[in-house]
Amino acid sequence: MITYYNKLIRDNIPDVIKAQGQIPVTRTLDDNEYLSALNRKLREEVLKYSEDNCLEELSDVLEVAFAIAKAKGYSDKEIEGCRNTKNLKNGAFDKKLFLERVISDDEKAKMLVNDLQFVIEEVPSSDAVDQLVSMVRAYEGEYFTDFSDGVRIDAPFQWLCYLKSSDEMFSAIMFTCLDGHPHITVMATRRDAKNKGYGKQLMNCFVEYVSRLGFHDIELYAWSEKTKPICASTQAFYKSVGFKVESEHMSLWAPGMITVKMKKSW
Ligand SMILES: CC(C)(COP(=O)(O)OP(=O)(O)OC[C@H]1O[C@@H](n2cnc3c(N)ncnc32)[C@H](O)[C@@H]1OP(=O)(O)O)[C@@H](O)C(=O)NCCC(=O)NCCS
Repeated sequence: MITYYNKLIRDNIPDVIKAQGQIPVTRTLDDNEYLSALNRKLREEVLKYSEDNCLEELSDVLEVAFAIAKAKGYSDKEIEGCRNTKNLKNGAFDKKLFLERVISDDEKAKMLVNDLQFVIEEVPSSDAVDQLVSMVRAYEGEYFTDFSDGVRIDAPFQWLCYLKSSDEMFSAIMFTCLDGHPHITVMATRRDAKNKGYGKQLMNCFVEYVSRLGFHDIELYAWSEKTKPICASTQAFYKSVGFKVESEHMSLWAPGMITVKMKKSW
């Protein structure tokens, strides 16, 4: 049987093949062929390393990289010099930084509202969830009923956006997409910051954000004031930012209690 390889091999491989009683057929590449064979080899070794992640494959990658450098006439000193220059300029990878997105200057201006930063977390961080839960807990028994534990359980399945200053959250919206519409499941402003305009600013950012995603409305459910008189202020807030009551629902959240579905469209 004859097996064709047509690839660059390490210097001692012909001897290994002979020792196995087989006949290696080789030729010596010219400089151009050698360099393009090395480039192919590098891709092959990188692929093998990405599959195995083992030391041997990693050292193969380095070996081929050094062979390429040598074939191109770069000295070890030049390579080290180049590495150091780049590390000094851009740093290495020690901080394990992962670039998620870049926000342009005009976008940044929109996202900074009176020194507050608008943040979207597709997978809410535990710190953000803790802050949201403590904001919700501050209203429990009044605007919310036994709700904060549910918020914690729901959070990993929903997105969270909020306004923050330093590391402190001022107002937050937890939301999901339901039947093709962005759906607010929780909104709260820190109790000591209520009625100071944070909710309205956050809602403006949120509307702009979901518009950019291609949506033209937002929906939510809230307690009816008929069931919870204190929630008249919640509805007043939502109406002040453009929501309208669409329908009333009996026993949706609790038997005999009324909720309203509210919607803002544009
Ligand atoms: C509802 C809530 C999120 C609003 O956030 P907020 O930061 O307090 O709201 P803002 O200060 O930005 O108010 C914005 C607008 O709502 C209006 N508003 C707020 N509370 C109001 C009230 N009790 N009556 C009438 N209008 C009210 C404000 O007048 C303001 O309108 P304006 O700018 O035209 O004057 C916040 O009050 C809250 O957390 N409430 C308790 C929890 C809750 O009800 N959450 C919603 C249920 S999911």
